[in-house]
Amino acid sequence: MSRPTEILSNDHKVVLEKLKLMEQTINNLKSANVKNVLTDLKTFLRKEADLHFKKEEAALFPEMEKFIPRDEGPIGQMLLEHEDLYKYEDNFIRGVDLFSKDENNGEAQKLIRENGNSFINLLREHIYKEDNMLFMMADMHLEEDQINAIMKKFEELDKAH
Ligand SMILES: [Fe+2]
Repeated sequence: MSRPTEILSNDHKVVLEKLKLMEQTINNLKSANVKNVLTDLKTFLRKEADLHFKKEEAALFPEMEKFIPRDEGPIGQMLLEHEDLYKYEDNFIRGVDLFSKDENNGEAQKLIRENGNSFINLLREHIYKEDNMLFMMADMHLEEDQINAIMKKFEELDKAH
């Protein structure tokens, strides 16, 4: 059976690939087919990325808070970063929606570029911290029954998804 951190780290690999595509796309808003790529990215963010964040917030972090108090350490920091990521994501998607109606809309292009780049940069750093620090702490400290509880919650979230 896979460990929760293994599942989340595998998600990170997929996300990092998508961030490359997102970066190329927002830097070439004039290229052909850009509307379709942006729409696919929107779907990925709303479905896969948000589900991943939820798995951390609702399953992994609460179990980790049993040995690391939220406000004094990395969990609080990760949650603050999730808040910023949601903000950038929402604004990026607002831009994508405006852009699909009119690709010459300057406001849409600005929303996409500014929030897209902020999202990409923050999420790359965030994933680095999770993979190299937070998940190692999880692997060191989580007990068997906690791992089972997390896996069960993952299944519930996948089903509700
Ligand atoms: Fe993550």
